[in-house]
Amino acid sequence: MVSESTETAAVRIENLRFAYGEKQVLHDVTMDIPARQVTAFIGPSGCGKSTLIRCINRINDRIPSARVTQGSILVHGIDIHRPDIHLQELRRRVGMVFQKYNPFAKSIYENVVYGLRIAGVKKKSDLDAAAENALRSAALWDEVKDRLHTSAFGLSGGQQQRLCIARVIATEPDIVLMDEPCAALDPLATLKIEELITSLKEKFTIVIVTHNMSQATRCSDRTAFMYLGNLVEYGPTMQIFEKPREKQTEAYITGSFG
Ligand SMILES: Nc1ncnc2c1ncn2[C@@H]1O[C@H](COP(=O)(O)OP(=O)(O)OP(=O)(O)O)[C@@H](O)[C@H]1O
Ligand SMILES: [Mg+2]
Repeated sequence: MVSESTETAAVRIENLRFAYGEKQVLHDVTMDIPARQVTAFIGPSGCGKSTLIRCINRINDRIPSARVTQGSILVHGIDIHRPDIHLQELRRRVGMVFQKYNPFAKSIYENVVYGLRIAGVKKKSDLDAAAENALRSAALWDEVKDRLHTSAFGLSGGQQQRLCIARVIATEPDIVLMDEPCAALDPLATLKIEELITSLKEKFTIVIVTHNMSQATRCSDRTAFMYLGNLVEYGPTMQIFEKPREKQTEAYITGSFG
């Protein structure tokens, strides 16, 4: 990424078409994702939520058949498909948290400082400060400060997911993508992540995929409803849930779908 522009949208998706091989799975998706808010993607299984969120940091590029066939994605005004885009830098600026928490087989500390070490940070005091900062931001510090050098696998599932969030935010991204981050967690651990998401939006732009309607209403500012690869409706979360404009949206959120 080269420079920041004055765009107000953190992410601008324009007429995006996307295919796996011959199969088109996103149809002319256009949306602006505002900075420092939480935007939720909802919709039935297979509608393209993961595909869309994974376009934003081009992690779909890892799938050989995957391709954008039309349209563009701008991150802070910069076209992420420009030939001079450095993918590693894009993915640092647009970090990602997955459904199945995936800490490395390393200590809690080494998980958090992993990206910084890769970026060449060597000074212990810098790494220590960054680790503490990220763990505090991820609401995990108090639970792990006395066991930083023990295995990440010794943490509970919810703690491991918060560790993965700490690992992402340690490298100071602008945007954090979360694809069903609570799907593998119990209700209490889910609530903690939701509180965390709400606090993170002070610093970061968050995009979250969720199947959980109450989660979307609890922690998102804007909601996008997708169906069969189309963005059916997108607006303030309250409006989407209380006064949906489209019949399909209403059917989905009231559970009378299909
Ligand atoms: N690697 C792939 N190769 C081919 N088709 C794929 C691939 N990944 C997803 N698809 C297809 O693309 C469409 C959208 O899938 P996607 O995973 O984005 O949906 P989703 O909304 O995230 O679903 P879920 O809620 O089940 O996670 C589906 O028809 C799916 O079968
Ligand atoms: Mg998915």
